[in-house]
Amino acid sequence: MIKITNLNKIFNENTKREFHALKNINLEIKNSSCVILKGISGSGKSTLLSIIGTLLKPTSGSIEVENENIAKLPDLHSSKFRAKELGFIFQSYNLFDTLSVKDNVSIALIPLGFNQKQIDEMVLKALELANISHKKEELVYNLSGGEKQRCAIARAIVNNPKIILCDEPTANLDYDNSIIFIETLKMLKSLNKTIIVATHDPIFDNLDFVDNIINIKNGIICE
Ligand SMILES: Nc1ncnc2c1ncn2[C@@H]1O[C@H](COP(=O)(O)OP(=O)(O)O)[C@@H](O)[C@H]1O
Ligand SMILES: [Mg+2]
Repeated sequence: MIKITNLNKIFNENTKREFHALKNINLEIKNSSCVILKGISGSGKSTLLSIIGTLLKPTSGSIEVENENIAKLPDLHSSKFRAKELGFIFQSYNLFDTLSVKDNVSIALIPLGFNQKQIDEMVLKALELANISHKKEELVYNLSGGEKQRCAIARAIVNNPKIILCDEPTANLDYDNSIIFIETLKMLKSLNKTIIVATHDPIFDNLDFVDNIINIKNGIICE
């Protein structure tokens, strides 16, 4: 379970540019649930996702994953936590254009110390789950937007993470590819992943496998 207690994030604290981006957030996300974090641009979704993903430290409050306060992890531990337990899917894919699909996905495994045979097996399995194994030798540069997103999904799941964080995952996808993305999320949920999607896309509003829609406005969670 992810348990967020009295979480605040203040950017540029004690300067003229001080900005209180997250205000006293309290939230519990059960294991294997799918949660939509919904709000207009600037409401604090990416900030919250980055804190859950240990890419950003909160100003105050705690965030516990399986009873460990990850806000307090030293950097070396938080990078290990990310490599082992988390998968990230971003709007802009964040892939290396000049590398193949296979190599982009393999990169996520580098910190984890697997041998080449294990890496090849894990990469192939992730590519198959994300429906992109037929393009495994292709350079990312040559892929369509939907295919890039599938490559990004494969990279996010190749380490077999417990938690998958998605930031505006459909923002650059057309309708058909958004539907494919949602089918993939449903499949990941059936594999018992905990999934958190930050989005303002109404396509996520009425999905049968979504457990909770959390509205966030000006850094505050609205009931
Ligand atoms: N590194 C930063 N420094 C200063 N302000 C930031 C920073 N990151 C985000 N913000 C501000 O925090 C607010 C929430 O941003 P963000 O979490 O990206 O919103 P969302 O993802 O919902 O669009 C915005 O007003 C944004 O300008
Ligand atoms: Mg955002």
